Amino acid sequence: MSERIIEYLRNRNDFVPGEEISRSLGITRAAIWKKVKNLRKEGYLIEAVPSKGYKLRPSPDTLTEKEIRTVFEGNIIGREIIFYEETGSTNERALKIGGLSRQGKGILEGTVIIADAQGQGRGRFGRCWVSPPHVNLYFTVLLEPPFSPGEASILTLMAAVAVVSAIREYVGLNAVIKWPNDILIRNKKVGGILTEMKSDIDRINFVAVGIGVNVNMSLNMLPGDMRLFTTSLKEEKGEPIRRVELLGVILAKFEYWYKTLLQGRRRALINEWRRLDSTTGNRIRVKTNDRIISGLAKGISDDGRLIIKLLSGAEKKVYAGEVTILKKIKNLNSGRKKYSK
Ligand code: BTN
Repeated sequence: MSERIIEYLRNRNDFVPGEEISRSLGITRAAIWKKVKNLRKEGYLIEAVPSKGYKLRPSPDTLTEKEIRTVFEGNIIGREIIFYEETGSTNERALKIGGLSRQGKGILEGTVIIADAQGQGRGRFGRCWVSPPHVNLYFTVLLEPPFSPGEASILTLMAAVAVVSAIREYVGLNAVIKWPNDILIRNKKVGGILTEMKSDIDRINFVAVGIGVNVNMSLNMLPGDMRLFTTSLKEEKGEPIRRVELLGVILAKFEYWYKTLLQGRRRALINEWRRLDSTTGNRIRVKTNDRIISGLAKGISDDGRLIIKLLSGAEKKVYAGEVTILKKIKNLNSGRKKYSK
């Protein structure tokens, strides 16, 4: 019922007499007043003026389950949403929850674990992910795909497509992907994805797809050496962005592409990834687990591996690694172009 009151007030965006809410929602005025008091405790700013009724003031950009549900409703993704004011790492939480799920404790696939701040945000290669409160998005989606472990990397590409297309559509900035997991604007990192999994030899048990997006962070919140190659949406756009709305768009796209993969339409995702990619066509250096490879980025194979043309002319495919772009051959984005499909 509290959700319905919020929805009612949100739709009207003005004072609404208690009498009217009572008639429309079929509850007494005393019950409305009680619910309003509880909603205020949850952080909603609801004015109450005796002669006029109730008015919802624009809510702070909070990421509670209730706020997220007002912007996104999925069938798989977000069936369960777990919000923390602060946690060590949402990926860490997801791995624990996924483990419980395997013991039959019933956590659903698609569970979203989200935090307003992370004390030990994790990046790739053991780096830390700077995660201050109230400004960015830090969340992890727990999946149980019927894939073999070798196919898991497609989920990183999928998440990158969801984030980049959401930024283009909702914020209007020309974000691009740098293989496999970097989200860039004007060649600076604005987001990243950390996919971790638990699997048997031939089957994935569960995957934690962790996503971090620098939304309203000022660059002075970063250590000095990171400021040159990191950015945030606010820095690029010149105005703050509502995190919860952006999250809603990301989750909707995430669900769309996950369903596409479950339907066996991997090629559609790969094609979309190629459209949003900034890696292909550049001279690059890739640091993998055991070596450094230099060459020309030729694109990705249908299983999501990066194809590199070596100086010898031979081609090599890599599964994972960190790409440095050595020479810009491809014409990259200008950063402020409006997206149109
Ligand atoms: C990268 O190095 O580019 C990956 C960064 C991933 C950061 C996100 S924030 C939410 C989730 N929880 C973590 O601890 N890491 C990921």
